[in-house]
Amino acid sequence: MILDSIGDHEIHNRRALVSVIVRENGFAGCSAVVTGAGQGIGAAIAKGLAAKGASVFLSGRRAKTLDGVCAQIEADGGEAAYRVGDVTDLAHLNELMALAAGSRGVIDMLVNNAGTPGPTAALVDVTPQEWNETIAVNLTGVFLACKAALPYLERAEHGKIVTIGSVTGKRPLPNRTPYAAAKLGVVGLTRTLAHEVAPHGISVNVISPGAVEGPRLNRVLASMSQARGVPPEALRAEMVQAAAFKRTVTEADVVQTTLFLCSSAANNLTGQDINVSAGAVMY
Ligand SMILES: NC(=O)c1ccc[n+]([C@@H]2O[C@H](COP(=O)([O-])OP(=O)(O)OC[C@H]3O[C@@H](n4cnc5c(N)ncnc54)[C@H](OP(=O)(O)O)[C@@H]3O)[C@@H](O)[C@H]2O)c1
Repeated sequence: MILDSIGDHEIHNRRALVSVIVRENGFAGCSAVVTGAGQGIGAAIAKGLAAKGASVFLSGRRAKTLDGVCAQIEADGGEAAYRVGDVTDLAHLNELMALAAGSRGVIDMLVNNAGTPGPTAALVDVTPQEWNETIAVNLTGVFLACKAALPYLERAEHGKIVTIGSVTGKRPLPNRTPYAAAKLGVVGLTRTLAHEVAPHGISVNVISPGAVEGPRLNRVLASMSQARGVPPEALRAEMVQAAAFKRTVTEADVVQTTLFLCSSAANNLTGQDINVSAGAVMY
């Protein structure tokens, strides 16, 4: 076929085909940014993306933990670098994205993972400062990271934004109003942004985990236990009972869904909010 006769649709299909070939071979040659990647789910996602061949760029506020994750990735044959900073600081995020884009000037994937549980208290007892801090990290941090990354994501074939939300907010969790408001906020941001950036071929999706096994869940259960005067084991049993599968979820569950959303298999999936909750929440 001569070049002149190739229409826009055909060019789109050919680009999609190239992208499928690249991504089915893994994420080799792709750059991925993960915020809050020094521990927990973020560290697991960074390792998962690196294991598939992506060059990963990590951010967080502590050099020690980020350094440890990068060292593990490199020991496993992957490529990783990090910048220390706060996800509420646009200057830090601009520097991080420029590092990740490198000489290609492209970021293929952004995973907004950094988050804080915020206070465990009845709304009447939450201070404005606690409210603002929780919204700043969990919601404004996502806005700022997307803003900093978008000029580079636009240059990718099929840029991907994945934000780690939470089932909290869809399913009310008493004494966690700032967290619930922020996590439901990222769903609205995602649906709206999905339309704005679709012309650039960028997908924007949310993963909403239920209770994920790990140190943070134990900390959250301990603070909820204090606020409600109920033993942590009883609260854990309540959470498990609420799930269709009668179990919590693992970091690996969240990693696998992230890898799927970053793959070419998900090129036609945008504006979605996917619950990874063992069936605790279904909407
Ligand atoms: N664990 C669960 O059960 C669960 C359930 C639903 C949703 N989630 C969500 O999943 C994500 C990861 O949670 P996790 O369980 O892995 O929690 P985690 O162990 O507490 O990790 C949170 C990460 O975010 C980073 N972070 C916190 N505040 C930050 C800030 N202001 N700027 C930059 N980085 C910041 C932390 O690193 P530094 O402290 O070094 O900055 C840390 O690496 C969060 O968005 C959380 O809301 C978790």
